[in-house]
Amino acid sequence: MIRTIGVIGGGQLGRMMAIEAKRMGFDVITLDPQEHSPCGQVADEQIVAAYDDVKAIEELGRRTDVVTYEFENIAIASVQYLEQHGYRVTPSSDVLRITQDRLLEKRFIRSAGVACTDFAEINRVDDLPEASMSIGFPAVLKTVRGGYDGKGQWRVNSLDEARTAFSAAKGAQLIYERVVPFVRELSVVATRAADDSTVTYPAGENTHDRGILTMTAAPARVSDNARLRARSIATTIGKKLGIVGTYCVELFLIATGELLVNEIAPRPHNSGHYTIDVTQCSQYEQHVRAICDLPLAEPKLLSNAIMMNVLGVARGDHLTGEAELLSDPSIVLHMYGKRHAVDRRKMGHFTMLVDGAIDEPAIARAKAALAKLGWD
Ligand SMILES: Nc1ncnc2c1ncn2[C@@H]1O[C@H](COP(=O)(O)OP(=O)(O)O)[C@@H](O)[C@H]1O
Ligand SMILES: [Mg+2]
Repeated sequence: MIRTIGVIGGGQLGRMMAIEAKRMGFDVITLDPQEHSPCGQVADEQIVAAYDDVKAIEELGRRTDVVTYEFENIAIASVQYLEQHGYRVTPSSDVLRITQDRLLEKRFIRSAGVACTDFAEINRVDDLPEASMSIGFPAVLKTVRGGYDGKGQWRVNSLDEARTAFSAAKGAQLIYERVVPFVRELSVVATRAADDSTVTYPAGENTHDRGILTMTAAPARVSDNARLRARSIATTIGKKLGIVGTYCVELFLIATGELLVNEIAPRPHNSGHYTIDVTQCSQYEQHVRAICDLPLAEPKLLSNAIMMNVLGVARGDHLTGEAELLSDPSIVLHMYGKRHAVDRRKMGHFTMLVDGAIDEPAIARAKAALAKLGWD
């Protein structure tokens, strides 16, 4: 029987997972190098250690009944260690190996029969001319490992710019991708259980600013057909991956109506935060259910919603304007307890429940609400 859940990573995703786990009666121990982490603040306990500290990982395994992780840039050796020593950990190291490496991930997507962005592997500066010949410009170079929130990415329009980006990457292995002229960015958050049952939330539409998510509106303003295909792609990918837990598939919808997968996250996702406020069972609770062998719940939307990320700015650690924001009774605020509001750091988010359809006036209302917040 599972009583205690271990979470590698103490960020906001772990925090929201822990809040749901606590509500369901589980104990939670998180592992994160940063004391008083967002997850540590709500968990029963935090082990303060690096993600690759084997002794600490061993302790986490020993003291919990199942271990999971809340982001993919952790040492794969930690997950393998748990597996090899008989501790239960999910998603598996095989899932992590694929999803933390953009090249393996794209090859996996293709092998699953799903379309993705054109790409090439860049190991040496001499690989650039051929990649640019076959794929063209504009392009984006990304580090194969370790990137998130648009970090480790360079947009390039010429071979010269590509060479400059290669130097800036300081020897890291890169992937060369065509910049996709998408009409919408979508994501589907899904959960797969060990018995192969899968639930998918309706596709949301995402807006990014320089690679960092700023807004998700759900459901996405696309045809029913595109929404259906997006959900079916997410289900296919989850089954082929054999993942157990919540995951997210990010997609580009292009003018021809085709969907191209951008990437897979093997964990709850920023674009699924809205599920806390407008579904009977959030992406975090579904994750807890999946990793604890409990049945999954219906992923039905009870209201349309717009989620806005609250990002830090260069100065000021204290949020201002909450009262003005919450004067709109359709808004729910979630803050992550981070002590320092570094520029563009994800500090919190809010969900605006939308009565009618997702449309420009609703989006303008959400943007105006965000503008009421500041940092002091
Ligand atoms: N090939 C691409 N074409 C167009 N936009 C892209 C491409 N790759 C990334 N982007 C933009 O940058 C964002 C972040 O890139 P992504 O590959 O998802 O990396 P991560 O989320 O891990 O930082 C995407 O959501 C998208 O807005
Ligand atoms: Mg992404």
